[in-house]
Amino acid sequence: MQTNTASDTASVNPTDFLPLHGTDYVEFYVGNAKQAAHFYKTAFGFQSLAYAGPETGVMDRASYVIRQNKLTFVLTTPLKTNNAIADHIYKHGDGVKVLALMVDDATDAWKQTTSRGGKTYMEPNKLKDADGEVVLSGIHTYGDTVHVFVERKNYNGVFMPGYRKWVSDYNPSSTGLLYVDHCVGNVGWNQMNPWVKFYENVMGFKNILSFDDNDISTEYSALMSKVMSNGNGYVKFPINEPAEGKKKSQVEEYLDFYNGEGVQHVAIATADIVATVTELQKRGIDFLKVPSSYYETVLDRVGKIDEDLTPLSELGILIDRDDEGYLLQIFSKPLEDRPTLFFEIIQRKGAKSFGKGNFKALFEALEREQDLRGNL
Ligand code: FE2
Repeated sequence: MQTNTASDTASVNPTDFLPLHGTDYVEFYVGNAKQAAHFYKTAFGFQSLAYAGPETGVMDRASYVIRQNKLTFVLTTPLKTNNAIADHIYKHGDGVKVLALMVDDATDAWKQTTSRGGKTYMEPNKLKDADGEVVLSGIHTYGDTVHVFVERKNYNGVFMPGYRKWVSDYNPSSTGLLYVDHCVGNVGWNQMNPWVKFYENVMGFKNILSFDDNDISTEYSALMSKVMSNGNGYVKFPINEPAEGKKKSQVEEYLDFYNGEGVQHVAIATADIVATVTELQKRGIDFLKVPSSYYETVLDRVGKIDEDLTPLSELGILIDRDDEGYLLQIFSKPLEDRPTLFFEIIQRKGAKSFGKGNFKALFEALEREQDLRGNL
């Protein structure tokens, strides 16, 4: 199983011009960060970590930082209109703004990427307080999404300067979520290959897997996907684009409702998917369900697995196998009223792939939901 810690320098290849230690945090721009933080704490089992807002001298926004194991979310809302955060929410609804990446040197990360064609979102910016310093820099990626490079090796505070510790008496128990496994972007027609080139040329990533519309088309809802990975494999960004089908692609539905390109799903690792999903369902998270017939034939396809099939079928957990092992996965329904962002929960047992064997059953389930919304 992969790890992604800031101290894990041994795995960095010296020829990698953008060494990454994993995902630092995922920042969402939302209409009401106070309520969103409560939802993620209650439903997913995050703990309060840090807060920034007028009380800490930040006058235009409020940000709540929540954490579970190595998974850190920042929920940010604007306090007034006519600013970039408010405009982002007006255009997209709630969604992912920042995929922040851990680096040793944020200034060098910015130089390396912008010298290769990356567009600056934030020039290197040193933030200091009594606990030390954090250096941030950033570049734009697809849509209005950005990558922020976070250098925190000289910082001992709770999150970063500008934030204070958020102490809460309300601390729902963990659901076993561990870290970001991968984040998937949906891009427009014919835009997958340009974004593959961006991750190759600007960030030094490699295309490790590709799916064409023959792999991922059901009767109606087709898409194409290429998986981009950084050198040590800690950061993986699959990129989807719609493909022609009989009816509207699921990616096209996303693009319509997100009003452009953006993050489609965040996949979160667990070491015990049965326990995690049991708890998430108990707390009100809805998942896509495949027909029970899936479980009649799945073991013929994937072979022997350690788990009992009964709880997997009751919970709707999907199974797939590749050359290196198998994986267990399940997909939530969208987390907003707009059919945009959703989560995947994944437990890897050797497999490094993404569940290709489940695409057909999964996309048929997804189409049924799309049809209920009148968008197929
Ligand atoms: Fe995924």
